[in-house]
Amino acid sequence: MAQARSISLTEFGGPEVLRLVTTDLPDPGPGDVQLRQTAIGFNYIDIYQRAGKYPLPTPTGLGHEAAGVIERVGEGVTDLRSGDRVVYMNAGVGAYADRRNVPAAKLVKIPDGISDDAAAAIFFKAMTAQYLVKKTYAVQPGDIVLVHAAAGGVGQILCSWANALGATVIGTAGSAEKCDAARAAGCHAAIDYSKDDWVAQVIDATGGKKARVVYDSVAKHTFMGSLDCAAPFGMVVLFGAASGPAPALDTELLNKKGCLFLTRPSVFPHNADTQTFRANAADVFAAMQSGAVRASIGAQYDLDHIADAHRAAESRATMGAIVIKP
Ligand SMILES: NC(=O)c1ccc[n+]([C@@H]2O[C@H](COP(=O)([O-])OP(=O)(O)OC[C@H]3O[C@@H](n4cnc5c(N)ncnc54)[C@H](OP(=O)(O)O)[C@@H]3O)[C@@H](O)[C@H]2O)c1
Repeated sequence: MAQARSISLTEFGGPEVLRLVTTDLPDPGPGDVQLRQTAIGFNYIDIYQRAGKYPLPTPTGLGHEAAGVIERVGEGVTDLRSGDRVVYMNAGVGAYADRRNVPAAKLVKIPDGISDDAAAAIFFKAMTAQYLVKKTYAVQPGDIVLVHAAAGGVGQILCSWANALGATVIGTAGSAEKCDAARAAGCHAAIDYSKDDWVAQVIDATGGKKARVVYDSVAKHTFMGSLDCAAPFGMVVLFGAASGPAPALDTELLNKKGCLFLTRPSVFPHNADTQTFRANAADVFAAMQSGAVRASIGAQYDLDHIADAHRAAESRATMGAIVIKP
C-alpha cells in the first residue's frame, strides 16, 4: 500500500488550520486511478472552504485541482493507463496531496506541449473562463466586456480569452502594478478600482456605452458599481465574492439600471457529466495551444508551505496563478 502526504483540516479558520499529514493510501478501487501528483493548482475557493464560508464535513482535505502521472489503474478503467499525464478540477476536495486516488471519469489527458505546472496552474480557472465567455454570456466581436480582479488567476484568463474573441476588454485591479498586468493579459484599458471614481473611469473607458457584460468575482466592494457599468439590457455575472458577499438586492434596481440580467453561476454544474467536461477541457486546451489563453504563474510554493500561499492570496499580494509543488 502506498503512502500519501496531504493537507487535512479538522476545523475551519485561518491558514494555521492547514495540517500536513501522512496516511496510508489504499489501492485504487473500481473506476479509479492512483496519481502521483506533480503540481497542484491553488484557487480562491480553497480560501472560502478553509475559512468555513463554504462549509465541508470535517475532517476534510482541501484543493480542487492537480496534475500528475497515473501510477496504478483500478478495475474497469479502459481509457487511461499507467504513465499517462492527466489533470482534474472537479474530483471533490483533496487535491492538496502528493498522491491521490481519483475517478478516471474526472480526468483528462494533458496534451503534449502543455507542462504539468501550466495545466495545474490554470485548468480550474480556464474551465471557469470557458463557460463564462462561451455559455453564461457568449462574447461576440465588438462587445465591450468588463472584468474585475483582472490581474488575478481567473481574471487574466478571462481578459485574454475575451480579447481573442474580438471584444474590447476593460479590466479593474487593485493597484497600478496590477493594472499593468491586466493590460499585458489583454485588457485594452485597466482601471485601479481602489480609487473612489472607478465607476466613472470605467464608463469613460467605454466611451459612455458601458459594458455588454460585467464579470464580477469581487462582489461586496464592486457589485453596486457593476450595475452602473452595465449597458442597458446588459448582463452582470456575479461569480465569486473575494471581498465578501454582495449586498442584498432589490430586484427593482435591475429595471432602474436598464433592464439588466443578473446571474450567479458556478463551474461545477457546467461540467457535471464526463462528456461535457471533456468537451469543455478540449476547448480549454485548444485555447492554450492557440495562445488565446496562457498560464501566467505568479508564484510557486511547496506543499509544506501551503499556508503561505493562502496568506499571500488573501492579502491580495498575488497576480496570475499560484502553483503548489507536492
Ligand atoms: N463561480 C465559479 O465558477 C468560480 C470558479 C473559479 C473561481 N471563482 C471566483 O473567481 C475569483 C477569482 O479566483 P482566483 O482563484 O483566480 O483568485 P484571484 O483572482 O487570483 O484572487 C482574488 C482577487 O480578488 C481581488 N480582491 C478584491 N477584493 C479583495 C479582498 N477584499 N480580499 C481578497 N481579494 C480581493 C484581488 O485582486 P485586486 O488586488 O486586484 O483587487 C485578488 O487578487 C474568486 O472570487 C473565485 O471565488 C468562481
